[in-house]
Amino acid sequence: MAAKVHITTFGCQMNKLDSELVAGELLGDGFELAEQADAADVVVFNTCSVRQHAENRVLTCLGRLAEQKAQRPGLVAALVGCMAQRQGLELLEQFPALDIVCGPGELHRLGGLIKKVRAGASQQLAVTERLRARRDVPAGLEELDVSRRAAKGFCKAQAYVRVMRGCDKFCSYCIVPSVRGREISRPPRHILDEACRLVEAGCIEITLLGQTVNSYCYGGDGREIRFAELLRKVGAIAGLERLRFVTSYPIDFSEDIFRAMAEVPAVCNYLHLPAQSGSDRILAAMNRPYTAGEYLALIERGRAIVGDLSLAGDFIVGFPGESEQDFEETVRLVRAVGYKNCFIFKYSPRPGTAAAKRLKDDVPAEVKRQRNNELLAVQEEVSLELHRAFIGQTVEVLVEGPSKSARKGRAEHQYQLTGRTRGDHIVVFDAPGRAEQLTGKFAEIKILEASALTLFGELASLA
Ligand code: 5AD
Ligand code: SF4
Repeated sequence: MAAKVHITTFGCQMNKLDSELVAGELLGDGFELAEQADAADVVVFNTCSVRQHAENRVLTCLGRLAEQKAQRPGLVAALVGCMAQRQGLELLEQFPALDIVCGPGELHRLGGLIKKVRAGASQQLAVTERLRARRDVPAGLEELDVSRRAAKGFCKAQAYVRVMRGCDKFCSYCIVPSVRGREISRPPRHILDEACRLVEAGCIEITLLGQTVNSYCYGGDGREIRFAELLRKVGAIAGLERLRFVTSYPIDFSEDIFRAMAEVPAVCNYLHLPAQSGSDRILAAMNRPYTAGEYLALIERGRAIVGDLSLAGDFIVGFPGESEQDFEETVRLVRAVGYKNCFIFKYSPRPGTAAAKRLKDDVPAEVKRQRNNELLAVQEEVSLELHRAFIGQTVEVLVEGPSKSARKGRAEHQYQLTGRTRGDHIVVFDAPGRAEQLTGKFAEIKILEASALTLFGELASLA
């Protein structure tokens, strides 16, 4: 009988895509997928190292492994992704119940490693050597994306497509360049081919992924292809209704990207553009080469060209040396931009990063917590105001499925579904009929109420 694999994914969209590609590959390689971890013969944890909190969640899972294996002999456990690359051998030593540790650059080897362990081999380690010096991508790894086995037989409305691996920015707090390696842009023909096949299989929304997606630059075909050109090429695929891209880096944002956003009908008016701080002093210490003023000017240019530009941001509070005044400058920037939503994080020193090596983590935990809450409250105010302006309007959403945040007190025959606007606003709405019939389709929703996180409405018509 085929072995059943269950994958638990932590972290960002890049990890979600990696898990999907690995799952597709394993399916093609004779494995089956298990819906529940306790029904699986192989459990895979795809991990994130960006903050200690993310690692702690995985460590808790690893702590339970020995007992689980005692109860289920033959169970194979693999840890893949960023923690695998960061801690490698250490993890195998610390957790004897762990069978496989496989970095994000070695995922194409995972199926083989699982088979080896199931055949009786001892612990297996696959991490990329000299990662920070590497400018090449193993053919097998690229093939995981290119073959896109996950797409076969599926007709999913939404998909991620990777445009680059790694990151070259070396923000002083960030572990990503040391676990995902240097920035390497994928060949445009691979990206286009993948996108075309997804659209043929029924996909109508593609999100292009890169740590600094707008820095995309491919020179392998004799001439440089940059992000704006790639956006136009993917955006021209017939049948693709929506094209998004995350995450953008405030430098490298040329006006031709904004022009492509304005001119290519499929490209959505949405940017995830992390500022990280509103203080120029802290930005410099973070090795983010722009000022708050330059960041705002960029957004102004974007709004002038694209028009209605919906923005999401990331901020880190409590970076070493962050004073009350620095924090107030962040609050000011959050108000000035008018983000749709912000992801706010407390600084977490990551071993080996420039900030962890050179700067003392000197903002007390309590102050980090207060600043985190204060900034969240400010963003909530901003979001609520933006959301309230939608009340009474009818918006087009791509329906994603049943809502997790269903409100109480609704009529029983009504289903609550969730979808997103082109600007990435989350819309929860009551709809008659079955969720499956609407999922993956466009619907017009009349907005009746708004909270800071969500717009609520009712189905006006199907597109
Ligand atoms: N501590 C806290 N937040 C971090 N991020 C990245 N590294 C750290 C860190 N060491 C945040 C940044 C980034 C997001 C993905 O995670 O805001 O944009
Ligand atoms: Fe990390 Fe900075 Fe690269 Fe983003 S741009 S992945 S924060 S180093």
